[in-house]
Amino acid sequence: MPPSLYEQAKQFIEQYYSELGLPEEEKQLRLSEVQADIDATGTYEPTTSELTYGAKVAWRNSNRCIGRLFWEKLHVNDARHLDKEEDIAEALLHHINEATNGGKIRSTITVFSEGVRIWNHQLLRYAGYVNEDGSVTGDPHSVEMTAQCLNLGWQSQRTAFDILPLVIQVNDGAPALFLIPESIILRVPLQHSAYPAFDDLGIEWYAVPIISDMALDIGGLLYRAAPFNGWYMETEIGARNLADEDRYNLLPMMGEIMQLNMTHESSLWRDKALVELNVAVLESFRKHGVTLVDHHTAAKQFKRFEMNEQKACRHMTGDWTWLIPPVSPATTHIFHQPYDNTMHSPNYLYQQAPYKVD
Ligand code: ARG
Repeated sequence: MPPSLYEQAKQFIEQYYSELGLPEEEKQLRLSEVQADIDATGTYEPTTSELTYGAKVAWRNSNRCIGRLFWEKLHVNDARHLDKEEDIAEALLHHINEATNGGKIRSTITVFSEGVRIWNHQLLRYAGYVNEDGSVTGDPHSVEMTAQCLNLGWQSQRTAFDILPLVIQVNDGAPALFLIPESIILRVPLQHSAYPAFDDLGIEWYAVPIISDMALDIGGLLYRAAPFNGWYMETEIGARNLADEDRYNLLPMMGEIMQLNMTHESSLWRDKALVELNVAVLESFRKHGVTLVDHHTAAKQFKRFEMNEQKACRHMTGDWTWLIPPVSPATTHIFHQPYDNTMHSPNYLYQQAPYKVD
């Protein structure tokens, strides 16, 4: 039998009181209150302080994340009182603004009530359009979401870097569409000091990755709309978003600009192009004063996280297949050791997109 809601709540509340070193009497009082609420209403409500702690620990428990050293520095916005689409949209714009912070990115999460859904994969994401010849303009990752937005009446520019509108749904009602004002979107034009021809391609990436399609699992409750962000590691953009063949697929273009010998794989032109694409991302973010970490520094920070967890006598978990960076993985310590991929709660979970009905 799966654990009851009370059992899950109890486990979370006990962890909260013990990690924060709060008095036993208070814990007992809180547990009886939670028990009574569940008996009377079928559910309970974590306090803002419990929610704040839970959101941070959910980050600490995110096995795939290399950036967890900073888990305690998450800014938590409790937006569980909002139930109107307009107010939710305003809170999301506020999140984008506060997290962007003029380029000095702040890790932030905004938690909405359980009936709220956000259709977007990330609050900021480029649209993708399938052309008649089957090619895609924009980000192929967004093709389905883009079609949904167009279907809901979105008027788009059809460029390779259109930011999708926000789609918000409350209690299974009709989805509502909101445009994100261009003034709050920080875009970083990409350039490369050694290859001026690259600057003219008009390639860019947005500054802040704000994941908005994962559910925050806390004490048996599931907050399905809880967008959160950190800052980018350069490989996410340079080695995946812009390089993957089923994404922007820019390695051949980079190879041409660098005049590499692309007739033989053994020239390692892909590897050379990949590294320079990553250099372009690092240089451009730095030039525009936007927070970004390179994969070597991120791995060192992760090492410190591992040591902190050990000092705190907590058993650290991780997913090796995600923790290793996609560029030169064996140059980091992560590559050379195993990780235990057990999932602990609180955590951030995948969930089915609301627009996908099976
Ligand atoms: N890999 C995703 C992307 O490229 C973002 C995932 C979250 N990344 C982060 N640094 N917090 O958009």
